[in-house]
Amino acid sequence: NQEKRIIIAIDGPAASGKSTTARKVADRLGYTYIDTGAMYRSVTLKAIESGLMDTLRSSPERVVDLLAGLSVCFSGDRIMLDGRDVTLAIRENRVSREVSFISSLKPVRDTMRQMQQDMGRGRGVVMDGRDIGTVVFPDAELKVFLTADVRQRAMRRYAELAVKSGDPSELPCLEDLEREILDRDRADAEREHAPLKKHPDARELDTSSLTIDVQTDMVCSMAEDILKKK
Ligand code: DC
Repeated sequence: NQEKRIIIAIDGPAASGKSTTARKVADRLGYTYIDTGAMYRSVTLKAIESGLMDTLRSSPERVVDLLAGLSVCFSGDRIMLDGRDVTLAIRENRVSREVSFISSLKPVRDTMRQMQQDMGRGRGVVMDGRDIGTVVFPDAELKVFLTADVRQRAMRRYAELAVKSGDPSELPCLEDLEREILDRDRADAEREHAPLKKHPDARELDTSSLTIDVQTDMVCSMAEDILKKK
């Protein structure tokens, strides 16, 4: 029933468990999951690969050159940048380090917001990011703001990296991960355009001591309550 499909906006700071929760909620409801962080990461990868980072730092308005003809889209659980699968490349550290800067630029935000609004037009989506409930879909029927204490978030990130890494001696230490997470949160929360912020109507969920399954159950039951009343 098309009329009964809603938008679920999940925002929160880095490594708060948004994407894992959002993906599971989408699976359970038969909705489409859209990882907007992956979209900002793709633009950042394009800036790095085009050798434009130094230029952009001194002349940020040049970012429009990068956006002209940009194509970012999802194909199942893969993300495609200009027709190429960049699912793994966007997780590299060189991208994480620059993504807050690139996503602070107004033309980038305007372009991404438009794409995200188009993707959610038919509703039936779970979208996660920093500004989904505040800017992209302020009319989302369900808005959730996920938080977790920084030590927990660094430990989750560490566990993720440990699974992926071939060489454990190359893993960063927890303190460095904590610092990176806090730096990125600060940059995302202090930027001028669409900063990371809880919408007044968003339901805040501190996931520090919750498992992914419990978080998923909680968000799904919030969604089911809303759907029942529709
Ligand atoms: O969710 P993530 O860590 O992959 O997001 C990467 C960066 O992208 C994040 O530090 C800020 C930016 N971002 C944003 O500005 N707005 C969003 N809706 C999603 C991400």
